[in-house]
Amino acid sequence: MTQPIKVMFFCLGNICRSPLAEGLFLYHLEERGLADRFHVESSGTSAYHVGEAPDPGSQAVIRQQLGVDISHQRSQQLTKSHVREFDYLVAMDHSNRQNAERLGDADILLLRDFEPEPSHRDTGVPDPWGGGGSQFQNVYEIVYRCTESFLDHVLEQEE
Ligand code: 4NP
Repeated sequence: MTQPIKVMFFCLGNICRSPLAEGLFLYHLEERGLADRFHVESSGTSAYHVGEAPDPGSQAVIRQQLGVDISHQRSQQLTKSHVREFDYLVAMDHSNRQNAERLGDADILLLRDFEPEPSHRDTGVPDPWGGGGSQFQNVYEIVYRCTESFLDHVLEQEE
């Protein structure tokens, strides 16, 4: 059996943005019948929220939009072994990427470099922590389209 393609999405706390990225990337995989080819996780560069479930705002937006439940996810901290072992490491913003670069010399991707609209690239996914429903909705929309076009990119790479 071929090894699954290992994808790690990460942010600062692993309770708002990267849990949505994990849930939405898995959603796109399932839509395309590709889930068994991948191993997907998310993490945070900090240990602030280790062991916690995703923020209620993140849980609510993906449940309302797609009926997807991410309440089983638990925050974990990004480690040197993750950086060594995962095939794709995807940061939510520049600061997350800089923090991860201290853990190893892997190539770290920025999620918004996969924005379909070029003028939106080279920027971060805004942090919705402590914000209201409209902030989580905005993050959901960004992460939905960027995880979908990131999947297209991975499939081209893996062909
Ligand atoms: P996340 O959001 O990085 O998208 O999970 C945050 C969560 C917690 C904190 C900051 C951002 N915090 O400072 O605790």
